[in-house]
Amino acid sequence: MAQAKSQQQSQQLFDLLKRDHRQSEKIMKQIESASAEEREDLFQTLNEALSDHMQMEEQVFYPQLQKIPELQEMVQDALEEHKEAKEYLSEIDDIDVDDDDWFSTFQDLQEGVQHHVQDEENQIFPECKRYLSDDQFAQIVQKCIQFKEQIGEVVLPKQRGATARGQQPGSRQK
Ligand SMILES: [Fe+2]
Repeated sequence: MAQAKSQQQSQQLFDLLKRDHRQSEKIMKQIESASAEEREDLFQTLNEALSDHMQMEEQVFYPQLQKIPELQEMVQDALEEHKEAKEYLSEIDDIDVDDDDWFSTFQDLQEGVQHHVQDEENQIFPECKRYLSDDQFAQIVQKCIQFKEQIGEVVLPKQRGATARGQQPGSRQK
């Protein structure tokens, strides 16, 4: 029983985080094939999505992991990758969208984000399952939902890993 519950609590958290990851990947794919005019709006959407997601992880998820000595180095690397991503986001924001540097800097961001997402999903998530309790997972999920509600993202009650934004990707109106 305990095993099944643990699976469920951790899966809720991973689903919620993965949903954000897939959403950002989707926007980055759209930027790849967008015109210069379209890039501006898409980039603002990406900037917001990534910034919110990183803030949530830094406030709610990583602090729990940092309490576990075996995970500290991994979290330190992840925080370093977040810092790099934020630097790229601010750099891209400052470049004119018609400038050749815009797309190459975007590609650097994309590569960094892809690498970070893989590290999280393939290394950090499995390690979390080794060290975190059901209660810790449940608390993190609860705090993630609170965070998302505070920033105006609706988390669907019946699938607590799901968000309204994630339900219909790309359909969000301005
Ligand atoms: Fe992250």
